Amino acid sequence: MTVSAKPPAPCTLVIFGAAGDLTKRLLVPALYNLRRAGLLPESFALIGMARNDKDDESFRRDLGAALHEFVTGEVVADDWQWLAERMHYIRGQFDDPAAYQGLARLLAETDEKYQTGGNALFYLATPAKAFAPIVRRLGEANLVHEAKGQWRRVIIEKPFGKDLRSAQALNRKIQSALSESQIYRIDHYLGKETVQNIMVFRFANGLFEPLWNRDHIDHVQITVAETLGVERRGKFYDATGALRDMVPNHLFQLLTLTAMEPPSRFGADALRSEKAKVLHAVRHFSRADAQANLVRGQYGAGTVKGQSIAPYRRAPNVAPDSTTETYVAVKLMIDNWRWAGVPFYLRTGKALAKQRTEIAIQFKQAPLALFRDTPVERLTPNDLTLHLQPEEGVTLRFSAKIPGPSVHIGGVEMKFNYKDYFKAAPSTGYETLIYDCMIGDATLFQRADNIEGGWRVVQPMLDAWAAEGATNLPIYPAGSTGPAEAEALLARDGRRWRPIDGEGGGKLP
Ligand code: BG6
Repeated sequence: MTVSAKPPAPCTLVIFGAAGDLTKRLLVPALYNLRRAGLLPESFALIGMARNDKDDESFRRDLGAALHEFVTGEVVADDWQWLAERMHYIRGQFDDPAAYQGLARLLAETDEKYQTGGNALFYLATPAKAFAPIVRRLGEANLVHEAKGQWRRVIIEKPFGKDLRSAQALNRKIQSALSESQIYRIDHYLGKETVQNIMVFRFANGLFEPLWNRDHIDHVQITVAETLGVERRGKFYDATGALRDMVPNHLFQLLTLTAMEPPSRFGADALRSEKAKVLHAVRHFSRADAQANLVRGQYGAGTVKGQSIAPYRRAPNVAPDSTTETYVAVKLMIDNWRWAGVPFYLRTGKALAKQRTEIAIQFKQAPLALFRDTPVERLTPNDLTLHLQPEEGVTLRFSAKIPGPSVHIGGVEMKFNYKDYFKAAPSTGYETLIYDCMIGDATLFQRADNIEGGWRVVQPMLDAWAAEGATNLPIYPAGSTGPAEAEALLARDGRRWRPIDGEGGGKLP
């Protein structure tokens, strides 16, 4: 993240998995948007590598044909042309040393032709099992050696491991070929403007931070509700589930940005250290804690946005007796001075009633004494909600007197919508991440300890479910707000979730 953006130093971007969906839907459109914004270096080349049988021409043609689907507005021919003529393709198996000899030759050629200064960024847009072999081969082929002031960096996609041990093993393997400063672990939530804005909201305003603690906050709710089901991702998803897919990464980004202490400076290490401290302070679950504080569910048949949806178990490449969860809700406690006693309730699920990503901070109730002799039975809880998707904005809810001779109190809202104030630049969410990596700013990327810290919190949950087997897996109808057990999780504490499809939530009446 930079204050005033200018084009990065010359470089070549190498995409592994260049025939895949991520390249077509997000990476090439993001590069095109960067070019439009003047944020690619003039001396730039793109090399795509994959197993598919393609050449430069078909590589350019296929991506060019897909571009208009994934960028906003008309494709500007000059900008696409500029990018397309710098695009090259090399066919190769990710674990074949010969492919890396070919890649080294092509890199030297593009370096010479486009004057990219020997700088290279390798983007691993491949299935996770290829991450370690690619990094090993890059090391063996001497492609990640930073000679004479040149830089070599590697972006690694999600999922980073499937549990604590595999994440640690992957870190060890990639760190044996790369130094930590060369590794950029992606969490695409950090590429979202509104996620980045959580920090600005908290630390650039004097108003809220004094209230941002256990003295004033009753609890926090973090929701990532999706209407999409598993779609065509059955093979990946059935082996993964909602907990691994969303919690140690995306939900923990939202959690750590909400709960962290102000970093001493706005730099990668200061920020990532504060996030790591939050994860360290999250109380780990015993088996009994997991039973009490963790809920899972799987969607059954139902209707989402007027469309009927088949049960998860009938999705392509999903086992007909699958016990994989498509919904998870959890109550976490953060054992530090700021948050002791304040529950953080997190939930995420697929095939729910509405898409909604938000962080709701519920403040403590005002003392009721003042209104004891009036007809006021209940005050509206004060809450502050950061809306991230699909709407982007902030809402503050408070009580106001309903006009009239007697004191009746109603809940009102102050609402800020990004789109009313700012014109958003066309974005896939990957522009900032690619640009930041090119300028060597790792603020929005995960350090090894952030990744392992997330898995350390989640591991006891995975263990508890593995021990339980298929028990306690409620089926919720697609298009609902999730399993009733998730409501019970909050009701036990005298609270309720904010409705996914409406307003309200907070304390039970
Ligand atoms: C991905 C998960 O990382 O994030 C998906 O694998 C999920 O299952 C997606 O749908 C959510 O991202 P977004 O940007 O749509 O909120």
